[in-house]
Amino acid sequence: MRVLGIETSCDETGVAVVEDDAVLANLIASQVRLHERFGGVVPELASRAHVEALTPLLDEALAEAGLGFGDLDGVAVTAGPGLVGALLVGIAAAKSIALATSAPLIGVNHLEGHILANAVEHGAGLTPAVCLVVSGGHTMLVHMPEPHRYEILGQTVDDAAGEAFDKVARFLGLGFPGGPVVDKLARQGDPNAIRLPRAMVDSGDYDFSLSGLKTAVLRHIKAERDAGREVDAADLAASFQEAIVDVQVSKTMQAVKDRRVETILLGGGVVANSRLRERIEKAGAEAGLRVLIPSMQLCTDNGAMIALAGAWRLERGERSPLGIGADPSMELR
Ligand code: KG4
Ligand code: ZN
Repeated sequence: MRVLGIETSCDETGVAVVEDDAVLANLIASQVRLHERFGGVVPELASRAHVEALTPLLDEALAEAGLGFGDLDGVAVTAGPGLVGALLVGIAAAKSIALATSAPLIGVNHLEGHILANAVEHGAGLTPAVCLVVSGGHTMLVHMPEPHRYEILGQTVDDAAGEAFDKVARFLGLGFPGGPVVDKLARQGDPNAIRLPRAMVDSGDYDFSLSGLKTAVLRHIKAERDAGREVDAADLAASFQEAIVDVQVSKTMQAVKDRRVETILLGGGVVANSRLRERIEKAGAEAGLRVLIPSMQLCTDNGAMIALAGAWRLERGERSPLGIGADPSMELR
C-alpha cells in the first residue's frame, strides 16, 4: 500500500510517501528560522509558511518516490492535536488530493504518529508496551497493550517537557528551539552542580509537573545575577536537563513494572535529547527490557510517521470522511 503522509501541526511541514514498511520519501521544510526571533512558534506565520511550502514539497516527495498522485492508495494527514490554522493547511491539501485521485483519506492523531514512528525502523511488533511521549506540546505516559489501544497513564499538569526546554533556553538567551541547544551545552556542564526540584517524582502516579522546575531555574539565574556572579549556563543546562530526565525515567520504569510489559517506546521531539536516550537505554538494559527509540529525524515532527500511522489504520479498513476538520486538542484513543 502506497500512502502519502502530510504533517503540518506545528512548525515543520512534513511530506512523506511510504510503501508498506518502506519509506520512499520523507521531506521536511523547517520553519525554525521564521520563528527564531520571536522565541516561539507564531501560529499565523506557521500557517502561512505551510501554505507556501506544501505544494513544492508534495511534488518533490512524489518525484523522489518515483510516483504520481494517481499511484497513491491512501492519503494520511495529521488531524490533531496542534495549531488549528496550521492543521487546516495540511487537511485542505489532503482532502483535495483524496478527492482528485479517489484515494481514501485518513486523519491521524499526531501523538499516535510519534509512537508509531518506532515501527518505521523497528518493525511492526511494538506491543505490549509503555510509551513515553515527550514533545513541545505533550508529556505523557501511555500504556499500549495492543496496536491502536491506548490507555493514558498520566501527563503533565502544566508545561510540556519541550516547552520547558524552550523556556529555559530563552532565559539563558540561547535561542529557539531550546532543546537542541540546551542538550549541547549540557554536555559541558555538571548535572549535579545546581540542586533543582524533581516535581512529583514520588507522587505515586504518572503525572508530571514542570512549571516549578522552570521557576527554580529562573530564581537561580536571578539569585546569581543579584549576587554579582556570572550564571554558569553549562552547569545550569546540565542540572535542568538531569532533573527532567530523572523524573521521566523513574516514572517510565514504574509504569513498565506496574503494567508488566517488556517494551518501552519513546516518541516526540524531546526524545532527540541525548541524555534522555542514554539514561532510558541504561535503565532498560539493567531491567532486561527492550527500549525502542526512533532515529533523530523521526523523533521530531515528520511526514513518515503520519504516513505509516495512516497506512496501519487504512489497512484496518478505517476511513475519514472528506468533511473532517482539525481537532486542536484531539485525544489519543
Ligand atoms: O515533536 P516535536 O518536533 O513537535 C511537537 O509536536 O511539539 O517536538 C519539538 C520539541 C521542541 O520543544 C524542542 O525544543 C524539543 O522538541 N527538542 C528537544 C531536543 N530536540 C528537540 N528537547 C530536548 N533535547 C533535544 N535534543
Ligand atoms: Zn510532534
